[in-house]
Parts: sequence; C-alpha cells; structure tokens
Amino acid sequence: MRIAIGSDHVGLDLKKTLIADLEALGHSAIDCGCYQPGSTDYPIWGAAVGQAVALGRADLGVVVCGTGIGIGIAASRIPGVRVATVSEPYSAVLGRQHNNANVLAMGARVVGVEVARRIMRVFLEAEFEGGRHQRRVDQLEELARDPHALDALRPNTASPDAKSPDTASPDAANPDAASPDTQNQDIEK
Ligand code: RB5
Repeated sequence: MRIAIGSDHVGLDLKKTLIADLEALGHSAIDCGCYQPGSTDYPIWGAAVGQAVALGRADLGVVVCGTGIGIGIAASRIPGVRVATVSEPYSAVLGRQHNNANVLAMGARVVGVEVARRIMRVFLEAEFEGGRHQRRVDQLEELARDPHALDALRPNTASPDAKSPDTASPDAANPDAASPDTQNQDIEK
C-alpha cells in the first residue's frame, strides 16, 4: 500500500523508525514531513497527510506528534479523513474494522517505540468489516457535510417521562452505552 506519513518535530524520530518499518513490510512510504528537527507546527504536517489520503495519493496515513492529538485533529479537518488516535493495538485494529479509519495518529511522548511499531503494523493489516459499520461511517461523512444531518435520528428526550439529565443514569441518555463489565460482550453490536 501507499502510506502517507507525517510528524512534527516531536514525532520526527518515531516517524523515521516507522518509515523504515513501512518499507520493510513492502509498503511505499510517502514522507509528508516535517524534515528538520527544529520546532514546527503540527497542523501543517497533519494537513499534508490528510490531503494525500483524501486526494487518493495514499491508501492510508500515519501521523505522529507529542500526543497524537493535535496532528490527528489537523488531519481530520480534511474532508473524507477519519483519524484513529490510539496508544494500544486493540483500538488500532477496531479503528480499521469498525470505523474505517484511514489515518492512524500516535503520540511519541505517549507510546514506546516498540508499541508504536506494533500499533502501525496491526492498523495496516486490519480491514474494514463493512456491514452495519458502513451505515455508521456514512453517518460520519453526513455529519461532516451538515452538523445537523443526524438530528432527526435522536430519540425524543423531551417527553414527559424522560428523566432530567441531573437524575438520569449515565446510560439513560445513550441506551447503546456499555458499562465497563459488558463492553467485551457488546463488541459485536
Ligand atoms: C509540541 O510541543 C506538542 O504540542 C505537539 O507535539 C503535540 O503533542 C500536539 O498535540
């Protein structure tokens, strides 16, 4: 695959390691910068990776900054880009399988090098499962076009029987929410 990869100065060393891994795995790495160790602004490089993915110059993208958060937000501002900012392999796999994430974001100050290498490898190996997840990914794209696109799909919480937000249990507002001890069982939903 063609993988666009970018970082700010904090993520530069990890980016170099990941580029070497990409090539060793048989992928084509498109280095979108940064290229120098001096301080720079993460939005510049997150946008470059997002553009490469959105324009079809790359199949997937990888971005790295200190936390993965800023550069991930930057990439996600490009329409059509879905960023998974993760610090362990499980979420990286689910980000591909369920969310069809097309950019992986990681924090060089958060994850160790070996964990980051594994995260990227499993992210690239995982595939979108489609099915029920396709509808939800489509909804994400609708939201990007119109912030109110999904408003009509929300249950009417203004009915006389509805509890106020102060007294409702955390799950009352979201019947799909899983309590921590049922999360694994609910993973198929
Ligand atoms: C740079 O100090 C730091 O803010 C950046 O690498 C990133 O963590 C931002 O989200």
